[in-house]
Amino acid sequence: MLRFDLISIFPEYLSPLKLSLLGKAQDKGLLAINIHDLRDQTTDVHHSVDDTPYGGGAGMVMSPVAWGDAIDQISSDADQIDLVILTPAGKKFNQKMAYEFSKSKQIIFACGRYEGIDARVGKYYMQQKNYKVHEVSIGDYVLGGGEVAAMVIIEAVARLLPGVLGNPDSLKEESHSIAGNKDESLVEYPNYTKPASWRGLDVPEILLSGNHGEIAKWRRSEAERRTRELEAE
Ligand code: ADE
Repeated sequence: MLRFDLISIFPEYLSPLKLSLLGKAQDKGLLAINIHDLRDQTTDVHHSVDDTPYGGGAGMVMSPVAWGDAIDQISSDADQIDLVILTPAGKKFNQKMAYEFSKSKQIIFACGRYEGIDARVGKYYMQQKNYKVHEVSIGDYVLGGGEVAAMVIIEAVARLLPGVLGNPDSLKEESHSIAGNKDESLVEYPNYTKPASWRGLDVPEILLSGNHGEIAKWRRSEAERRTRELEAE
């Protein structure tokens, strides 16, 4: 079972992880989500989590001591622990990464705030053979902290785990699905439901034809068109 652990100085910020699809998946024992307060996990007397940057400059940097203590305390004995450090300077998250993470046994999310986490934290765990470190960004913009970014990643990963989605067929045809072909990432074709005519707009004729071969061809070409249009922007 995949175990997600999140470390943050604002654990309440992560409470949506108890809801909806993720809440149900935890109740069914399909995955576990543990939320930890960085301050509770520190073992130094002051429970301090940040300090001024060496070399000067604005803002505060999060202490490697606090993060090291917290990460060590929640690490399982899995052969490989994936440590995800959320930062706008990280590798851009995508569906392929979501698939890779879905094979993990334990993912620890380090949700930093301020000007980020002391760079030695990533470096130290890179040197440990039972950890794989990933510096990850969810997009080219700056958030106040890594909490929302961690929730985005967990939502994308959890729905790929067996049993989490009510209808696993949903995974086969959706946008960015790489289940079929690893080299291509198409967005999904447009979807329609009843009524066939709504506010003067009709559902494309082909979808009412019952001709499954032609419908599949049309959907494929619509998916390609949408993907091309997005790429041209
Ligand atoms: N922390 C701040 N901004 C972020 C981003 N875009 N992605 C991940 N973590 C972040």
